[in-house]
Amino acid sequence: MTRPALAGAPSLESARAAALAAMQRAYAPYSDFRVGAALVGVDGSVFAGCNVENSAYPAGICAERGALAAAVAGGVRRFDLLVVATEADAPTPPCGMCRQALVEFAPDLAIVTYTTHGGEAQWSLATLLPHPFTPAALSHHQ
Ligand code: THU
Repeated sequence: MTRPALAGAPSLESARAAALAAMQRAYAPYSDFRVGAALVGVDGSVFAGCNVENSAYPAGICAERGALAAAVAGGVRRFDLLVVATEADAPTPPCGMCRQALVEFAPDLAIVTYTTHGGEAQWSLATLLPHPFTPAALSHHQ
């Protein structure tokens, strides 16, 4: 696991704090798995989200897509970094649906996940989703 240019960057530190704060606001009474996410825009802006579950289980949403929705609503569509915070024993990557949602806007996204137990891991979205469905596919369907 490498921690190249990201280590010590101000945006990384503020995104880590934003992800943790969002995690603490997560609504996860069914899974008891709280997640916070913070997306860092190319302009340095930070948008956070948390998982919001529902008694109708499929209506719940992941933290990552919550952060993405907040960013797009805030006018930011290009991102350098996603930070995810959980209380899991080991760092976890975003789920497959979130990978697909993120790749639409940030194919080269760097992802850092850390846990409140001190674990940390990094991935690139391209590594986690090597063969994404992209907008280009829709223009070649006829
Ligand atoms: N969850 C996220 O919010 N992000 C992830 O990266 C993995 C899973 C949520 C969905 C659900 O509320 C809970 O965690 C358990 O799957």
